[in-house]
Amino acid sequence: MTSAAAPEPAMRDRRAAKKLFIKTYGCQMNVYDSARMADVLAPLGYMSVATPDEADMIILNTCHIREKAAEKVFSELGRLRPLKTRKEAAGDRLILAVAGCVAQAEGAEILARAPYVDLVLGPQTYHRLPEMVARAARSAGGVLDTEFPAETKFDFLPESSAPQGVAAFLSIQEGCDKFCTFCVVPYTRGAEFSRPADSVIAEARRLVAQGARDITLLGQNVNAYRGPAPAGGVWGLGRLIEALAGIPGLARLRYTTSHPLDVDDELIAAHRDVPQLMPFLHLPVQSGSDRVLAAMNRRHTADDYRATIDRLRKARADIAFSSDFIVGFPGETEEDFAATLGLAREIGYAQAYSFKYSPRPGTPAAMADGQVPDGVKAERLAILQDLLSEQQRAFNAASLGRVTPVLFEKPGRHRGQLVGRTPHAQAVHAPAPERLLGAVVPVRLVELGAYSLAGEMAAAPEDATA
Ligand code: SAH
Ligand code: SF4
Ligand code: F3S
Repeated sequence: MTSAAAPEPAMRDRRAAKKLFIKTYGCQMNVYDSARMADVLAPLGYMSVATPDEADMIILNTCHIREKAAEKVFSELGRLRPLKTRKEAAGDRLILAVAGCVAQAEGAEILARAPYVDLVLGPQTYHRLPEMVARAARSAGGVLDTEFPAETKFDFLPESSAPQGVAAFLSIQEGCDKFCTFCVVPYTRGAEFSRPADSVIAEARRLVAQGARDITLLGQNVNAYRGPAPAGGVWGLGRLIEALAGIPGLARLRYTTSHPLDVDDELIAAHRDVPQLMPFLHLPVQSGSDRVLAAMNRRHTADDYRATIDRLRKARADIAFSSDFIVGFPGETEEDFAATLGLAREIGYAQAYSFKYSPRPGTPAAMADGQVPDGVKAERLAILQDLLSEQQRAFNAASLGRVTPVLFEKPGRHRGQLVGRTPHAQAVHAPAPERLLGAVVPVRLVELGAYSLAGEMAAAPEDATA
């Protein structure tokens, strides 16, 4: 070796840089977790890339919620296998990892069905990634970690993170204790856990310092949040929202996903009193039939749900709702399904998701009598989806001609255009200068597109509230 000077920083970076590709399936909590995995791996020299082709490590962050979602993982692994073989033939290493809820539920099966997978890790072990990567590099077989460790990952994940942009996610709660009879989440994510309020507030401040103006608080059951309060005691979600609203520069707050049973007085008061809390709420009802709701173990009736919606509307007149529905739950009759349609008609959703019931191994409903034939599920789903898309169209159509505050989040597809969202989370594109990224601007909604609304700035940009 010559005694050459240390390499230039740029050269050193290039030599050290390893490429990381993460493919994310499932819910927004997985999107958040994927970003955190990238943060944990950054100090090891991993840089995120947009395609798997050149990657040194590929992570599939998976979802187990419905059968189709889980099957996708095995097809994707099959597609990635030749890439790994090719890399290895060239003397390089490609670490293939499966994370997320399929990893948690089917860890051993993944290693058996796809033995070329190097690493299988459950959602509670992401802070251990560096150690696992090192183990995978030494090990001939796959490494599996699907424990629920005593320490929480939030205490060990790095504080610094790559900026998320104008709209950011922040996980405040994880896991679920509700055990709806159709659902895998309590098994894949474990028991409910709420992060301490001061660490949530600190992360929100960091996000805002990096340019976030709209933060969505995340949790599998986010309004079950019961976090240790800064000065002792416990805060619920309403109190936490109130505290977060005090962060200068944070224009908008949202939260998802909530359970109707955990909408308490404090949260309703936050919708009334906190202007930063957006008037849009995803409040899944699943079914409009009390018989089905009971069999699902949702622990509320359709009337309880109506009453909660009424209270929220009284607190915030312009609030709009979104929901999830399951059709063809075991035992669902035509009459039950009609009750679901009736409830949806009554509430009038701005947006909603609906699914055919998918039996999940190990959940009580999968073993229940009265499984509904797929043809019937498909028919009911089509009818419900027609109704829900008509409601969404009507909601968007009703906002045409109105001036509404739009927070511009990113450049649009066309030059000179920005894309943002209304308080009701409708996507809007409008001609606007780039300097208005991150600003809340009054926009007149003028046209209904397939995926977004077209708008025009209603005031001169100089008047815009930044
Ligand atoms: N915690 C949220 C839901 C999380 S899962 C809540 O309590 O509402 C997201 C959605 O997936 C659920 O609302 C439900 O509509 C759907 N889902 C969950 N398990 C399902 C299954 N086995 N079959 C079909 N849809 C399911
Ligand atoms: Fe699943 Fe939501 Fe029910 Fe929890 S509350 S079991 S996450 S559907
Ligand atoms: Fe899917 Fe797990 Fe989220 S099952 S919906 S990724 S909590």
